[in-house]
Amino acid sequence: MAFRVAGIVGSLRKGSFNKGLLRAAVELAPAGMEIDIYTRLGDIPPYNDDVFQKGDPQAVADLKGFIGGADALLISTPEYNYGVPGVLKNAIDWASRPAGKSVLNRKPAAIMGCSPGLGGTIRAQHAIRQSFVFTETYAMLQPEIKIPAAAPLFDSSGKLTDENTRQYVKKFLESFAGWIARFKG
Ligand SMILES: Cc1cc2nc3c(=O)[nH]c(=O)nc-3n(C[C@H](O)[C@H](O)[C@H](O)COP(=O)(O)O)c2cc1C
Repeated sequence: MAFRVAGIVGSLRKGSFNKGLLRAAVELAPAGMEIDIYTRLGDIPPYNDDVFQKGDPQAVADLKGFIGGADALLISTPEYNYGVPGVLKNAIDWASRPAGKSVLNRKPAAIMGCSPGLGGTIRAQHAIRQSFVFTETYAMLQPEIKIPAAAPLFDSSGKLTDENTRQYVKKFLESFAGWIARFKG
């Protein structure tokens, strides 16, 4: 079965490790899984319900089209101050509307993340899972990818070069394909 996956990075940083992690996922995706990376997170305005009521700004419509047109969602995110980076939470808030009928509703998803420190982004990942309870977004439970001490795993161009981690990402994506098939099969 072929799946299109919408990939979103929760960091706007050019040299983002989480962007490198998602790029590795694009390369390591199993046969039949195609992952596209969303590149316009920084263009999404701060959520304002008055603006939503009048109609989505173009960048928001693009985001919703990107997620809505995919079979599944794959988020790769840093953790900021023990939580979800504001740009990503803002995008999730936009994507969550209209409530109950949003592009996130009943969408299979997976979350991964890496940090140069020891936390490995697990607190941010759990915070996203909490938001996904309301949107009924089916976030894969296991395996998890929470990578601490990530800096040496990437080369100077931001490519994930650590072979153990690449194998781990590959297995994670194989499980994700199985997870998506449960809902799309
Ligand atoms: C505002 C801010 C808050 C941060 N808070 C955390 C944190 O709570 N936990 C953590 O592991 N790293 C934290 N960091 C460090 C990030 O993990 C680090 O900057 C990482 O490289 C960001 O991900 P990226 O490389 O994908 O941009 C924080 C960084 C910033 C800028």
